[in-house]
Amino acid sequence: MILVTGGAGFIGSNFVIDWLAAGDEPVINLDKLTYAGNLENLQGLAGDPQHRFVRGDIADYDLILELLQQNRVRAVVNFAAESHVDRSIHGPEDFIQTNIVGTFRLLEAVRTYWNGLPADDKAAFRFLHVSTDEVYGSLEKEAPAFTEQHRYEPNSPYSASKAASDHLVRAYHHTYGLPVLTTNCSNNYGPYHFPEKLIPLIIHNALAGKPLPIYGDGQQVRDWLYVKDHCSAIRRVLEAGRLGETYNVGGWNEKPNLEVVHTLCAMLDELSPRADGASYASQITFVADRPGHDRRYAIDASKLERELGWKPAETFETGIRKTVRWYLDNPQWVHNVTSGAYREWVGRQYGEV
Ligand code: NAD
Ligand code: DAU
Repeated sequence: MILVTGGAGFIGSNFVIDWLAAGDEPVINLDKLTYAGNLENLQGLAGDPQHRFVRGDIADYDLILELLQQNRVRAVVNFAAESHVDRSIHGPEDFIQTNIVGTFRLLEAVRTYWNGLPADDKAAFRFLHVSTDEVYGSLEKEAPAFTEQHRYEPNSPYSASKAASDHLVRAYHHTYGLPVLTTNCSNNYGPYHFPEKLIPLIIHNALAGKPLPIYGDGQQVRDWLYVKDHCSAIRRVLEAGRLGETYNVGGWNEKPNLEVVHTLCAMLDELSPRADGASYASQITFVADRPGHDRRYAIDASKLERELGWKPAETFETGIRKTVRWYLDNPQWVHNVTSGAYREWVGRQYGEV
């Protein structure tokens, strides 16, 4: 039995779906169901006895300890977090609470549980912490990609809170011997991606006939990985990663934002053309830049490839096509997540958009 936290969010729900498709080890899925958590992501698992959903907070020490003890959990995979950089700029408090205090309480519950395990179970136990490349800060144009040795230079409240959580995880290994693993991944995209993030927001706005907002000059570079490749990397690290190590995860797919948006527009022009025959690219609108906007991220994933033999299955071209098709095929999912709280956020962030 494994415990997944944050498994009704974008990456966590993909992970749970893929985990159960790949084997028969059951999952307890703990999620607070913030605005970003959505049980519709897990509809395909309805009635699956291998999946148990529990609504709860990673900061709830007693609940976590009870779940661990009652289910003899052998591994925890921690996805739960506040994840959106722009929201962390508007209101950092939730990021400190969940990403730092929450991770701390989760680690405390895991430590208590782990200390009480028999020797064999203690040796086999794993705590895998899912983190981000943003902890490394921003790269100059020609600088080599982030390796695991790159110093931490987080620039947003989000990345600073994730950096703090990474340090806590590291400290629990160093000080208490807790068997931890950390992954630092680049930007994900794919099914169930909440349309506050660039790729799903652009697809959603394009189809809704709304402006496609590009921050600043649109030349910021992100390194894109299809979400299911991130999930396969996590499975591999959980299976064979060296204790206390961190593994960078990425697909060597650096792209400037404007290029990504043009690719999406061209794909939508092909798969779902506008009634007036114009390109969706005509909806592109340059808007004010994100404060403190990191210019470039790039992940060097060679340690993961060399040590654990992991490789992504998708290129950007195949992954983005699957993603666009998924959004075209699932308008109801998009409709349901873009009501209420979503509209309030869009009003605050983009004004008239
Ligand atoms: P997401 O915002 O889509 O999902 C986060 C989930 O965590 C939601 O279901 C939410 O309800 C849940 N959650 C929030 N606070 C909680 C709490 N206190 N207790 C329990 N559950 C809580 O995020 P995502 O994009 O799926 O990211 C998942 C993890 O992967 C995060 O830790 C993020 O930092 C990391 N990550 C994301 C990316 C990316 O591109 N999205 C890349 C690298 C790493
Ligand atoms: O690098 C990994 C990180 O990727 C994760 O840790 C974060 O959880 C995840 O949200 C993502 O962070 P980014 O800030 O890179 O993703 P976002 O989709 O918000 O933005 C991607 C780029 O697009 C960034 O340079 C900002 C820009 N952007 C974003 C939005 C929402 C725009 O130009 N316009 C927009 O409307």
